[in-house]
Parts: sequence; structure tokens; C-alpha cells
Amino acid sequence: MSSADWDASRYHRVARPHAAWGANVLDRLDLRGDEAVLDAGCGSGRVTLQLVERLPRGTVIAADHSESMLAEARNTLAGYADRVTFIQVDLLDIHDKLDRQVQVIFSTAVFHWIQDHPRLFSALRRVLESRGKLVAQFGGGTNLQRFMRAADAVAGREPFAQTLGGKDLWRYYTTPEETEGRLIAAGFTQANGWLEPSPQTFEDHARMADFCRGVVLSSHVAALPDPLRQDFTDQVVDEIARREGALTLDYVRLNVDASG
Ligand SMILES: C[S@@+](CC[C@H](N)C(=O)[O-])C[C@H]1O[C@@H](n2cnc3c(N)ncnc32)[C@H](O)[C@@H]1O
Repeated sequence: MSSADWDASRYHRVARPHAAWGANVLDRLDLRGDEAVLDAGCGSGRVTLQLVERLPRGTVIAADHSESMLAEARNTLAGYADRVTFIQVDLLDIHDKLDRQVQVIFSTAVFHWIQDHPRLFSALRRVLESRGKLVAQFGGGTNLQRFMRAADAVAGREPFAQTLGGKDLWRYYTTPEETEGRLIAAGFTQANGWLEPSPQTFEDHARMADFCRGVVLSSHVAALPDPLRQDFTDQVVDEIARREGALTLDYVRLNVDASG
């Protein structure tokens, strides 16, 4: 997905599960309050805000490659300009852009958007101080498998197939074991990964469609011409309701704690 493709204000409005997941992952960080922390893929800054509030004497580098997400994050974090620095960067190249190392790398809901995990972990390792920690959560295992099958079925229908056919719109889901192995291969001294099912159910069609358009279907929607976007989203939500008998997203999160 290119850096311009997120509808950042919609994401910020609908990403409530992400804020709750972020708070849980932050609890694992056990911060002193004076660390330098990289938020790898800060998005609209909602979780970054929770992070900076736990760092009264510390600093945050908020990194993302999306211009629209960074603009939203600057707005969200306007009250913390003295302690937050923003950088627009592909995380695969973060080691070329950061002129300092950090004590902690934090990341939520990002790594499954990136295909090359060996290169990603190697880049992150290079910006982490020795004995620093990486605490992250992203989609893994069977994350959204049932939902994406429904999306795939709708993407195969006309007129959507003309645009979506043959496009690589999938996120990159791995297992805890693969991820642990890749982290160690990238130079981390210790790595622990585990899966956590976290299904999300919506009250009605409109709320689920709003969420899907801003988050889990954002790549599909960005690829489609504007007049087809809402129709595609509505058909996917109808397809999920038909297949599952519920307005549920089968989210599975992969947690990682690693040491540099
Ligand atoms: C679902 S959002 C998560 C944002 C935030 N961490 C949260 O939990 O709300 C995923 C973010 O990852 C960013 N992202 C994806 N791939 C990236 C890459 N290769 N480099 C930098 N940012 C990336 C996207 O631009 C987007 O802002």
C-alpha cells in the first residue's frame, strides 16, 4: 500500500479495538518513564498518545510512511510537541533515517502490513540499544482468515474483479515460531511470541462497514474507483453476515516480546 492510501481521519474515528489492544500492549512495557521509545507505525497517533502519557520524562519517535496518518498524528499529539518527534519513513529503512538508537521499540497493528519481516527485524535491531526491548502486537496465525475469504469472494464479482483481480491485497500473517526465529536471526538475543484471538462484533451493518472501509478493507478500497468503494464494502459485510450469521471480524493478534 502506498503512503497516501489511508483515510486517516476515518481510521482515527473507527480504530477503537486498536486503542484497547494498544493499552494492553503498553501494560507489558513496564516503563520507568524516562526512556526514548520508537513507535514503529504510529498511524493516527491514538496509541502513541497513550504511550507518551506514560513517559513524563521520556521521548517518543513516531514513525510512519503515510503522510495522511502522520498529519493526523501531529494533530492528536499537538500537546506533546516537546517530547514527540515525527518521521516519515518506510520501517524497512528506519536504520538509515534515525540518527540515534532507542531503548524501546513499540509497535501495534503494523507488522502484518509489511512482507519482508527478516529485513524489517534487522532494520529495527539496528536502531535498538543493546539490552533494549521490542514489544509488539500485530495480526498473525489465522487472523481475519474467514473475513478475507468473504472479501475475496466479493472481489471476484464484477465490476470489482476488473480492478481487484490479480492484485496483491493481502496482509502478511506469520506464526509465533516463524517470528521468534526471524527475530533471533536478525540479532535479537531473546524472543517470545504468542497468539491471542480477539474477535470483534459490530452492532449493525453501518458500523461494521465504516470500520471495514477504514481498516481491514483499506487496501481494497484504495485500489477501487471512488464510485465502487461503498458498494464493495457493503457487499463484503453482507457476505460475512450470510456466511457467519454474525457481524464479526475473526481477529487473531500475534504478540512479541524481544530483547536486543
Ligand atoms: C493499522 S495502522 C496502526 C497504527 C497504530 N499503531 C495503531 O495501533 O493504531 C498501520 C500503520 O502502519 C503503517 N505502515 C504500514 N507499513 C509501513 C511501513 N513499511 N513503514 C512505515 N509505516 C508503515 C501504516 O501507514 C499505518 O499507519
